[in-house]
Amino acid sequence: MNWRALFKPSTKYSIFALLVVGIIIGAVGFFASQKTLHATSTDEFCMTCHSNHSLKDEVLTSVHGGNKHGIVVECQQCHIAQDSFGYLKKKIIVSKDLWGYMTIKDFNTQKWLDENRAEQAELAAGYFRQIDSSTCQKCHSRIYEDQPETMSKMAQRMHSRNFEKKGEDGYKTCIDCHEGVAHPFPREGKSPKFRAAK
Ligand code: HEC
Ligand code: HEC
Ligand code: HEC
Ligand code: HEC
Repeated sequence: MNWRALFKPSTKYSIFALLVVGIIIGAVGFFASQKTLHATSTDEFCMTCHSNHSLKDEVLTSVHGGNKHGIVVECQQCHIAQDSFGYLKKKIIVSKDLWGYMTIKDFNTQKWLDENRAEQAELAAGYFRQIDSSTCQKCHSRIYEDQPETMSKMAQRMHSRNFEKKGEDGYKTCIDCHEGVAHPFPREGKSPKFRAAK
């Protein structure tokens, strides 16, 4: 077909009608994928591949699953940046895990998780550093600027000192200080520093 044909009326349907159809198909596709994205964000979905891993139980026994407010934080609320661009980007990166799931020997066993926890934690932490723990900050908002009276003096001091260093060396992101807020943090020979699990 000659490109000029695009500007000529189609033999059977007007270009306008074709355009309308195109827009409808595009819109349906867009919403379908939005839906897919959301369906792939539930804890159940995460646990389809991680079904033999203790991850969900760990969350339930941590402060993020067993707190006095009765809030159980979802996997994706911590693990996937919540702004739409970051969300989509992480989703695309995560889709590589399907390959890992099919190829990593004995992946979906507790033994695999136990043996690989340190490395996996490092990978997960790397993502939190990339997004400056934005997911944590979404719930714990304004942790630096506007700290509640109830927060311990030590926490206030640590937080405000760190905030002053923003953009400089030595600035830490939430998870650099708060390790293992949802899972036991793997550290050889030492117990986790700020372990939340009770
Ligand atoms: C298609 C199967 C599959 C699904 C679904 C899945 N995962 Fe995973 N996940 C894997 C595999 C495989 C690995 C190991 C990846 C590697 O080491 O290459 C992994 C590793 C991880 C890691 C540690 C490594 C890293 O890159 O951060 C986290 C965190 C994680 N998954 C969270 C999640 C969350 C949250 C969900 C739900 C939104 C989820 N997973 C859904 C297969 C899956
Ligand atoms: C409150 C936030 C939070 C929630 C909720 C959460 N995670 Fe994590 N997850 C983390 C952090 C932070 C790490 C990085 C290592 C660490 O500090 O424990 C991590 C690490 C991991 C790892 C790497 C192995 C490890 O233990 O470090 C996997 C896999 C993982 N998470 C999967 C999940 C799945 C699946 C869910 C839901 C059942 C979930 N996480 C819920 C914050 C969370
Ligand atoms: C969906 C909201 C949500 C997200 C996301 C979230 N938290 Fe929390 N966090 C909570 C709630 C709710 C509590 C319990 C507060 C309470 O019991 O008073 C809590 C408690 C905590 C505590 C106090 C622990 C203790 O022992 O008292 C720390 C530290 C913390 N979160 C850090 C983090 C970090 C780091 C992240 C990101 C990896 C994160 N949170 C992500 C809601 C969230
Ligand atoms: C430089 C280290 C450091 C960084 C970075 C840091 N914190 Fe903390 N945070 C602390 C210390 C220390 C405490 C007090 C711990 C304790 O009392 O067990 C604390 C306490 C807390 C508490 C409990 C406060 C309370 O009510 O007593 C929450 C929630 C919290 N931090 C969230 C965060 C979040 C979210 C971030 C990222 C925006 C963050 N922290 C970054 C060191 C840090």
